[in-house]
Amino acid sequence: GQLVVGSWWTAGGEAEGLAGMFKIYEEKYPDVEIVNATVAGGAGSNFKAVNKTRLIAGDPADTFQLHAGLEVEGYSPEQYLAPLDDIYASEGLEQAFPQDLLTLLKSYGGHYWGVPVNIHRSNVLWYNKELMDQAGVTPPATFEEFATVAETLKAAGIVPLGLGTSGGWEAVHTLEDILAGTCGADKYRGLWDGSTPWTDECVAASLENFKMMLSYANTDHPALSWDGAAEQLVDGKAAMLIMGDWTDGWFTSKGYTGYGWAPPPGTDGIFVALSDSFSLPKDAANLENAQNWLKVCGSLEGQEAFNPQKGSICARTDCDPALFNEYLQSAAADWAVDAIVPSVAHGAAAYESWVSDITDVVVLFLTSGDVAGTQAALQQSCVDAGICQ
Ligand code: GAL
Repeated sequence: GQLVVGSWWTAGGEAEGLAGMFKIYEEKYPDVEIVNATVAGGAGSNFKAVNKTRLIAGDPADTFQLHAGLEVEGYSPEQYLAPLDDIYASEGLEQAFPQDLLTLLKSYGGHYWGVPVNIHRSNVLWYNKELMDQAGVTPPATFEEFATVAETLKAAGIVPLGLGTSGGWEAVHTLEDILAGTCGADKYRGLWDGSTPWTDECVAASLENFKMMLSYANTDHPALSWDGAAEQLVDGKAAMLIMGDWTDGWFTSKGYTGYGWAPPPGTDGIFVALSDSFSLPKDAANLENAQNWLKVCGSLEGQEAFNPQKGSICARTDCDPALFNEYLQSAAADWAVDAIVPSVAHGAAAYESWVSDITDVVVLFLTSGDVAGTQAALQQSCVDAGICQ
């Protein structure tokens, strides 16, 4: 029979990583035909709606990509998904993944709804080494330094910050890294459980920092996707870029080696984390094939085939570090010691409905630059989500 795999992995790096996992599956189950049911659009910006329609119609992919954490709520898992607790038990997965990740995976309804394939880092500042050297600057560790470095780059005729916001989510991604860098790990965490109100002064300061950074970005960002923005680094048009570490997989797939990396301002010692997993719809037409897919996803060989190309580190703790490039080895080292906080743009921290409200507010901010109005709207979205008073 077939195995229909739903995801949004079509860009360089992510597509190769997925193909690597397909290869392992095909070796084990040569009689099964894999159908790669991707819908292009970073962070699932197009995939999620298509996927929901298929689920509701009773015609789902046999397994589909799902971020670990609260994102699953958007798929009404009690109705449409099968809990994966049995697969965790049979494959020994509770022994394979770190406790923090297991807690995140079980954060909705006390069941496992996905088998994780990786850990991604949201907060990375990528830079074109040649352009930074040419302007005589180094990656900024603080927001003040960012402004100084950006002025120097601008004076040298270089676009300081490459940005793409065509999917909307990229703006939220940038803001989450700025919130973590401005509020600090503890207050940032509190934004998602109501212990830090959005009226806090660190939110206003974050929006001011965001506004300052936007003033140094390419003006055509609403027309560019995340990989379109990364292209500007490769082409020597922009010096810096804030994006998750799938960009490392993308650079590698392009054969581009001229990049460096650093934590975005204020986030040294903070790891804004997310994880991709695969789920099992109750109505999967090829149930057994899908269960075997999930076993490959959780296995050492599956994760070692996937992650070095994807630009992520393994969810498992026993992958061979020698398979990973220098950036990914540094990410693994940070993951072991940093304060880990959840990404909101990638499904870990909040329900989909709240993330969608936040996205609307933040996309408006890109053009309005209205700090007070945006802060009030963010607080209201938190109240509407039932998290803030
Ligand atoms: C994220 C996903 C990553 C990467 C990125 C860009 O949401 O977790 O694996 O694919 O989107 O599409």
